[in-house]
Amino acid sequence: MENKKFFINFKMNLTKKETEEYLQNIKGKIKKENVIFFPSNLYSYAFLKENYNVGIQNISKEEKGAYTGEVSAYQAASLGITYALVGHSERRNLFHEKNEDIGKKIDAALQNKMNAILCIGETLKEKKMHKEKKVLKKQIEKALKHIEKKEKIIIAYEPVWAIGSMKNPSIKEITEIIMYIKKVLLTLYPDSSIPILYGGSIHEENIKALSKIEEVDGFLIGSASLDYKKLLSIIEVAVPM
Ligand code: PGA
Repeated sequence: MENKKFFINFKMNLTKKETEEYLQNIKGKIKKENVIFFPSNLYSYAFLKENYNVGIQNISKEEKGAYTGEVSAYQAASLGITYALVGHSERRNLFHEKNEDIGKKIDAALQNKMNAILCIGETLKEKKMHKEKKVLKKQIEKALKHIEKKEKIIIAYEPVWAIGSMKNPSIKEITEIIMYIKKVLLTLYPDSSIPILYGGSIHEENIKALSKIEEVDGFLIGSASLDYKKLLSIIEVAVPM
């Protein structure tokens, strides 16, 4: 990626009014090509209307049919949504998503010409047992082994224990893991240059150091982005206008 990009995951937050105010507050203050918003599905229209890049926080592995409550990549793409988060740790842990299904969701996204962001990360227990590399390798291989086309794949490394906790691995640890992920990707796709994002408790105080990690192509930001002022200052530090 040319510049570091920002992937903004609002999760299940913001009402219609709050979304409208948010959009009003960031108007003209963001380089649209550097940011992708992942609002609640209910409000994607508001971001699309303002010509922002929009992603979906989760998609069905199915295309259409009797799947109450699900939204497919086919439907999202028809609206102009161009990115899909797949396998976020909250989906894996709270909704019991398995690597195999995550692979099918990636397929669904790619078939609909969307960019698929595969989220991977180790738990604290796995880290303490020094199993993080093994876990990440498995998550990558199981989800991607059947995928030939790599052009629209992005990997987001988010240690589960760093999400929403205000805890982070050190810069050295992140760099080492990203290098390792690159190595694993090279065995799957020998000439690959799949972008890799970092996510987990990114805020105004740590973005400066994080943005210096050359191997990181962008950031996945949750809680801090709910306050538009925090989001703007994070972006300003990482990619000065
Ligand atoms: P956080 O969330 O920034 O609140 O840690 C990141 C994420 O879950 O993608």
